[in-house]
Amino acid sequence: MFGISALALMPGAGVSAQSAAVPDGAALYRMRCGSCHTIDTNRTGPLHRGVVGRRAASVPGYNYSPALRASNIIWTQQALDQWLQGPQRMVRGSRMFFTVANPQERAAIITYLRSQPAR
Ligand code: HEC
Repeated sequence: MFGISALALMPGAGVSAQSAAVPDGAALYRMRCGSCHTIDTNRTGPLHRGVVGRRAASVPGYNYSPALRASNIIWTQQALDQWLQGPQRMVRGSRMFFTVANPQERAAIITYLRSQPAR
């Protein structure tokens, strides 16, 4: 029965290839954001625990840009999606220079962030 397994290995063919393409938010977070952010410690960027629903620039002890402090953003999932498409476009003068072009990757990362609520 060579036929079925060969089909499963073909990109875009069948269910197994599709589910393999669903991005893993935790892994993407580590890969894309991990050089500057962690969930529980301020680094180059502020810590992310509880970020979904949080007011922008509200982590104690992190030295935010004046622009982000003045932004009055609440990090809803939509706001995060916009931020990840262009932090400079969303908040001129902010200090994050990094974008995620792929909408599915953004969604997976935001879902992961939602799974790390404030304690
Ligand atoms: C090269 C470093 C760098 C990378 C990579 C990076 N960020 Fe940032 N991020 C920052 C910095 C610096 C700030 C603070 C911006 C400011 O103060 O204007 C920030 C701020 C943020 C904020 C605002 C948090 C708050 O408390 O208001 C969010 C949300 C955020 N980043 C999400 C992400 C996500 C998600 C990724 C990965 C897809 C990512 N960042 C990748 C450097 C980075």
